[in-house]
Amino acid sequence: MGSDREIDVFPPALIDALVDSRHIVVMTGSGTSAESGIPTFRDAQTGLWAKYRPEDLATPEAFARNPQLVSDWYEWRRQLVSKTDPNPGHTAIAALTKLVKQLTLITQNVDGLHQRAGNDDVIEFHGNIMLSRCTDGHPATGIQGDTESPPRCEQCGAMIRPAVVWFGESIPAAVLQRALAAVETCDVFFAIGTSAQVQPAAGLALLAKQNGATLIEINPAETPLTDDCDYILKGPSGAILPKLVSALKQTSDHA
Ligand code: OAD
Repeated sequence: MGSDREIDVFPPALIDALVDSRHIVVMTGSGTSAESGIPTFRDAQTGLWAKYRPEDLATPEAFARNPQLVSDWYEWRRQLVSKTDPNPGHTAIAALTKLVKQLTLITQNVDGLHQRAGNDDVIEFHGNIMLSRCTDGHPATGIQGDTESPPRCEQCGAMIRPAVVWFGESIPAAVLQRALAAVETCDVFFAIGTSAQVQPAAGLALLAKQNGATLIEINPAETPLTDDCDYILKGPSGAILPKLVSALKQTSDHA
């Protein structure tokens, strides 16, 4: 169910599903941070992939070919992220986490805004742009010098790269396992601000649905998931999530 108007009154059955839930999984994508001023990837005109080619900037091959270009691009994105703040959507997810029995937050975002909004346990599916790691496998320690691009590992001198998952790379096994375990036991799954075009993240939503979870999408646009959703909350997450949390609070207060 869904309409073109941004929702004000939520279906009672949706609120009931949240009240009765034992375990909610929330999976967010870059749209969740759009209202903080961080560009998404695939939105026409404003998305990063409308201006840059992922194969030049977000693959291991691109880094091997032109490490300075890739490092500088990530440094530009780090600067951008460090000037932003969580928006009401992030804050509402943190409030929802406290309101329900169990909530697992999986994010495809690398910006750390969920943590800054108050979610301290976040499954960062694609890593974190603020962290770096040695390309030779040393754990992230000191970086040698601060002017070189890319920086070098203090231990072995190898290049230091952002601790994010690039195209063609696998999700770290422990991260994937944690996400799958949550999806297997959840009874409600939210897909928020994601175009659901990148695997394996997008597949988590359908897996949850196959396991019987109620699937809810929050997005101003349709996605490949939309037709499979039980509830479609059309609009920006920074506007919809605070209203949803406040509706849930009212119901919980009267229960
Ligand atoms: P996309 O850019 O593919 O999709 C962003 C989604 O957010 C779209 O469906 C928009 O309609 C929606 N959106 C835009 N503004 C919104 C708002 N205010 N509230 C809610 N939704 C909004 O971003 P992702 O799905 O996150 O991967 O992309 C997935 C992965 O592809 C990223 O993690 C990144 C990228 O390449 C890596 O870096 C590995």
